[in-house]
Order: sequence, then C-alpha cells, then structure tokens
Amino acid sequence: MSAAATDRRMDKLISVLVKNATVVLPGPKIASQIGVTRSTVWNYVGKLRALGVDIQGHTSSGYQLRTLPDILAPSLIQPELGDNEIGHKIIHYFRIDSTNSTALALATDGAGEGTVVVAEEQTSGRGRFGRKWYSEKSSGIYVSVILRPKLSPAAAPALTLMAGVAAHRALSAATGLAVDIRWPNDLLVNGKKVCGILTEMNAELGRLHHVVLGIGVNVNNKTMPSELGAIATSLRLEGKRSFSRAQILVSLLKELERCYAMLKTEGNAPVLRAWAKASSYAEGKAVRVRTSDEDFQAVTAGLDPTGMLRIRREDGREELLVSGEITEVKR
Ligand code: BTN
Repeated sequence: MSAAATDRRMDKLISVLVKNATVVLPGPKIASQIGVTRSTVWNYVGKLRALGVDIQGHTSSGYQLRTLPDILAPSLIQPELGDNEIGHKIIHYFRIDSTNSTALALATDGAGEGTVVVAEEQTSGRGRFGRKWYSEKSSGIYVSVILRPKLSPAAAPALTLMAGVAAHRALSAATGLAVDIRWPNDLLVNGKKVCGILTEMNAELGRLHHVVLGIGVNVNNKTMPSELGAIATSLRLEGKRSFSRAQILVSLLKELERCYAMLKTEGNAPVLRAWAKASSYAEGKAVRVRTSDEDFQAVTAGLDPTGMLRIRREDGREELLVSGEITEVKR
C-alpha cells in the first residue's frame, strides 16, 4: 500500500474552507475548529495548495478559498449521500498505488459492505487483462466500492453489468452526453472510452465473500496520452467543458446504491434490461472478439439471463461469451 489515507482533520479543513468560502477565516479559529495547531493548519494549507487548491492568505492574515476546489474529500461527498449504505464510510487518498488493491486488502480485513476507497491519483492503477489504468492527478475519478452480496459466484457477471448501468446513468445525467456501454462495462462517448470498471472478487465454491467494484472515469483530462488517444477520451474533451468530479462521484455512488438494491431485490432481469437498453452493443453489432485463445469476428445477439453476451460467428454458430473483449467492426 502506498501513502496514508487523508487525515480526518485535513478533510475537516477542506470542509471548513468550503463552507466559509466567502470569508477570511483567522488561522487560530480554523485551528481550534479542527483541533490542530496553527502550524499544522499552515502545513495542511501548503499540501492543499500543492494540489492546486487556490487558498489566499497565511497564518497571520487568515485564509480564504479563492475558488471552490474539486476534491473528492469525504466531508464534501458524504453529506450528499444521506443514509445510503454505499459511501457510509469513505476513505480518501491524495495518492495511492491502486484503490482496488487497497479495497481488497481492507475487505480481507473485514471492511463493511459499502466502504468506498477514493483517490485523487493512482500510481499503479489497474485495468482489465492486467493492463495499466491511466490515472492522472485530479483529472479523473478513481474509486473502489466493497460489496458483500449474499449471492453465488454465478451472479458475478450480473454484478459487473449492474456497475456499468449505474455508471451509465451517473455519467449521462451529470454530463448530458450520449454515453454508450460496450460489453461488459466500458463506457464510451463518441466511440471512445471514458470509464472502465474492474470487478475483483474473493469467492469460494457456492459463495461470494466480497466483491470490489473499481471504477475509473476520465473526467477533466485536457489531453490523453498519445498511445491512448485513438481509443480513450475524457468527458471534458467530448463535452468541451469541465465537470465537477465531486458531483459525478456523488451521482455514481447514489446510482450504485439504487442499481445494487434493484439487483438484490428483483434479481438479474431488470438490471439486464436496463443494460441492453443503454448499450448499442447488446444486439446486432458487428464486433471483433478477443478471448485468451481466439480472435474472430461475430455479431452480438443479446444477453443471456446471467449477463453473458450471446454472439453469432460468421459461420452462424451461436455461443456465449463469459469474458473477453469486444470492439466494434465498422462495416
Ligand atoms: C478497465 O480495464 O476498463 C478497468 C479499469 C478500472 C480502473 C479503476 S480506477 C479505480 C480502480 N483501481 C484500480 O486500480 N483500477 C480501478
């Protein structure tokens, strides 16, 4: 595990500054409100400035926020979630290796359902198929949610699609952009990926112990690295404006709460219906399929009741895709 989680008092400083954004707050007042010394306040302010938070003033004159920071601080996110289970506990990092690795370790140590790990930057963000996930500081959302569903491992594909539906709803509502889902749960805007989901789980025969849903969203990236430019983009690049990462995260956690409840109470069917409605890949899409041992062309033919993708090969044979990667073939 890399750095330590954000100090609770630093989180409180962010919230005190945001709540009093229009006034100059004397250093001693802040210090007593958050329970630290004036020099610690000064130290925290320095760290926030290094992250690009625009804070005017110093210990003697007092501090004032010049612009509202777009930080995923628990004190800013949690009040928006009411008494939801997902996000009842949020652990924030300015810098971490991977929120999924940390969430998996926390889950193994007994962290409860709905615990969220979020970071401003990842140094070893992980994607599907052992790939790296580009995790630029303060531009994206890097979040992992611990779930403890009382379901069998056979329910895992539906859980994965559930996360895709939640992210689809959150990103569509927050940006107004036309968002597509590529099976199983890549979110695309104008054909390029803006969000990926890595589901990792600990299961034994017949029972899922815990699941970590790791979600990465490219939000305010002004450019993408050249090697990703053809396949990935950000909401900012497509929407031609920046978006509040905090607002998107709130919306994402709320949608996860709703979709997860739907899956638990009503089973797979409504989640799969919502997925198929949101995805142009559900049916009739010509795709290239890459699995661990094959690479071929096919046409998609709907989801089966567990969330696997039905595909029709060029010779007419139909089969179910459990995992693997598909990309559109332009005809
Ligand atoms: C994919 O390959 O499409 C999945 C990408 C998942 C990236 C997210 S970012 C937050 C979480 N932590 C990680 O290391 N990976 C996931």
